[in-house]
Amino acid sequence: MLPSKYTSAPKGGRKDIRNLKRIFPYIWEYRGRVLIALLSLVLSKVAIVGIPLVFKEIIDILDQSDKSVIAIPISLFLLYGFLRLSGSLFNEVRDAVFSRVRYRAMRRLSNKVLTHLHNLSLRYHLERRTGNVIRDLERGTNSVSQILNYMVFNIVPTFAEFILVAFILLGQYEAKFAIITFSTVAIYVVFTLLVTEWRMHYRHKMNELDSKANGQAVDSLINYETVKYFNNEIFEVKRYDTTLTDWEDSAVKSTTSMSILNFGQGAIIAVGLTFIMIYAGQGVIDGKMTLGDLVLVNTMMLQLFIPLGFLGIIYRMLKYTLADMDMVFNLLDEKPEIINSTNGKALHHINGEIQFEHVDFSYQGDRKILHDISFTVKPGQKLAIVGHSGSGKSTLARLLFRFYEINGGRILYDDQDISQVTQESLRQAIGIVPQDTVLFNETILYNIEYAKPGATHEEIIRAAKLANIHEFINALPDGYNTAVGERGLKLSGGEKQRIAIARVILKGSPILIFDEATSSLDSQSEKMILEALSSVAQTHTTLVIAHRLSTITDSDQILVLEQGRIIEQGTHQILLAKNGLYADMWALQLQESGNEKD
Ligand SMILES: Nc1ncnc2c1ncn2[C@@H]1O[C@H](COP(=O)(O)OP(=O)(O)OP(=O)(O)O)[C@@H](O)[C@H]1O
Ligand SMILES: [Mg+2]
Repeated sequence: MLPSKYTSAPKGGRKDIRNLKRIFPYIWEYRGRVLIALLSLVLSKVAIVGIPLVFKEIIDILDQSDKSVIAIPISLFLLYGFLRLSGSLFNEVRDAVFSRVRYRAMRRLSNKVLTHLHNLSLRYHLERRTGNVIRDLERGTNSVSQILNYMVFNIVPTFAEFILVAFILLGQYEAKFAIITFSTVAIYVVFTLLVTEWRMHYRHKMNELDSKANGQAVDSLINYETVKYFNNEIFEVKRYDTTLTDWEDSAVKSTTSMSILNFGQGAIIAVGLTFIMIYAGQGVIDGKMTLGDLVLVNTMMLQLFIPLGFLGIIYRMLKYTLADMDMVFNLLDEKPEIINSTNGKALHHINGEIQFEHVDFSYQGDRKILHDISFTVKPGQKLAIVGHSGSGKSTLARLLFRFYEINGGRILYDDQDISQVTQESLRQAIGIVPQDTVLFNETILYNIEYAKPGATHEEIIRAAKLANIHEFINALPDGYNTAVGERGLKLSGGEKQRIAIARVILKGSPILIFDEATSSLDSQSEKMILEALSSVAQTHTTLVIAHRLSTITDSDQILVLEQGRIIEQGTHQILLAKNGLYADMWALQLQESGNEKD
C-alpha cells in the first residue's frame, strides 16, 4: 500500500516562509560547513560551465583551415579533463560536507519533537493514535532534510548555473542568444509547473483509489469467515473491481498526461534550439561567429535543461514536503496544557500531607466527573477510596499527578498548591501502582530500575523481595534479564502488578498510590504483599483504591465515592455503623467470600 503521504493533495494555507525561516537555526549551527558546501557547489558549477568554453576553443583550433601549423592543443585537452574532474569532485565534496548538516538538523528536530510530545498532556495523547503521531514525526523530520536537499542539490545549483550562463552569453555574444535561451527556459518552467499542477490531480486520484482497493481487499480477507458465511465472494470481488476500474482510468490519464508533459517540454527545447541554431549558423556564415561558438551556445542551452528535466518531480515533491514540514511545525506550536507556573518553585519539605479543597473536575465539556471533593490525609496515614466502577477513583489519582488542570478548588501537598510547583518535583514526590500496568518492552531489571536509574543491585533486589516477586524472577532461566515482551504481555497480570509494586517501592516517594494494585492477585499473594506494603507504608502517606474491602479495613480514613461525589467518609467502624453504601458493599462482599468458602 502506498504511504498515505501520496494519497491526498497537500493542503494550502500554510506558512511556508515562516517554516523555512524556522529551519534556519538548525543550519546556522553548522554555518562553516554550509559555507564550504556552497563554495564547492559554485566551484563545481564553474567547472561544468567551463567545459563548453574549452570545448569551443578546441573546436576553433582544430577548425583552422591551415592544418599544418597547429600542434595538438594538449593543454586545452588537459584543461578539459581537469574541468570534468573538478566538476564531479566538488559535487561530491558538497555532498559529503553537507550530509552532516542535514542529518544533524534531522536529529535535533526529532529530539525536539519527541521532547515536545512528552510535554503535551495526557489528554492530547489519548485523543490520538500513537502510530499516527509517530508517522507525523518521521515525515516531518524527513521533510526538513529533503527541503535542505532540494535547496542545496537542485534549486540553488540550477540558479547558480543560470547566472553563470547568462554572464557568458551576454558577455560574448549578441543579446538575442541570451534572450532566446532564457525565454525558452521561462516558457519551459511555466509550462512544466502548469501541467504538473493539472496532472497532480490524476496522480492523487490514482493513489487514493489504489489505497482504497487495497483496503477493500485486506478487509475482505480479514473477514474471510464472514464472507463465506454469507456467500459473498463475488460481491467482494465486484466491489474491489469497481474501485480498480476507476483506478485504471486514472492511471491511464496519469500516464497520458505525463507524455503530454514530456512532449511539450521536448517541443519547447526543440523550438528554442532551432532559433539558436539559425542565428548561430547565420553568425558563422557572416563571419561573426566561429564553428566553436555555434557548438558552445548549443551545448550551453542543452546543459541548462538537464536539471530542469526534474523540475516537475521536484515541484511535486516540494509541495508534499512543505506540507509535511508545516505539519511538524504546527505540532511544535501545539501548546502544552499543563505548564509550570512562571514563578513555580520545587515542592519542598514534603511530609506527605494531601489536601483536596472543593475540587471539581471534568475531562471534557459539561460532563463533570468529580464534584466538590474535599478531604485531608495526614502524613503517614492511609486513605482508602472505594466506590463503584466509573465513580472517579482513578481520575482522582491522576489529578494528584496534575495530568489535568482541575476546574475548581485546590489540591495541596503540605500546604503547597500543586498548580504552583514544578511538575518534576511534584511527580518525584508521588509513586503509583496504576490500575493497568504497562511495561516497557525490555528486561525485568530495566523495568524495575526505571523508577531510579542507577539504583544498586541490592536496592533492586530488596524492592523485588518486598513485592514478593524476587523468587519468581530468580526461577526464570534468564532471571532479571528476562525480556517482558511488548507492553509486558509475556508476564501474567499478577506478575506485572508485582513488578509495578517493586518499582514504586524503589522510587521511595513520600506519597504512594495503589490503584487496585493487587486486584490480579489471589488472596494468598495479596495478603503477603499487603503485609510487606504496610511495613513500607508506615513512613509514607498512602492512598489505596480498592474493590476488595477486606484489604482496607485498617485505613485511617475511607472515602466512599458515588458518581464523583464523596457520599460517606470515616473509618471502617464508623462507616459500618452508618449503615449506608459502604455497609451494603461490605455485607455483599462478606456474603460472597462466605459462599466461596462453602
Ligand atoms: N480520558 C478520559 N476522557 C474522558 N472521560 C474519561 C477519561 N478517563 C475516564 N473517563 C471517565 O471518567 C469516569 C471516571 O473514571 P475512572 O477511571 O476515574 O473510574 P474508576 O472509579 O477508577 O473506575 P474503575 O473502578 O472501573 O477503575 C468514567 O465514567 C470514565 O468514563
Ligand atoms: Mg479505576
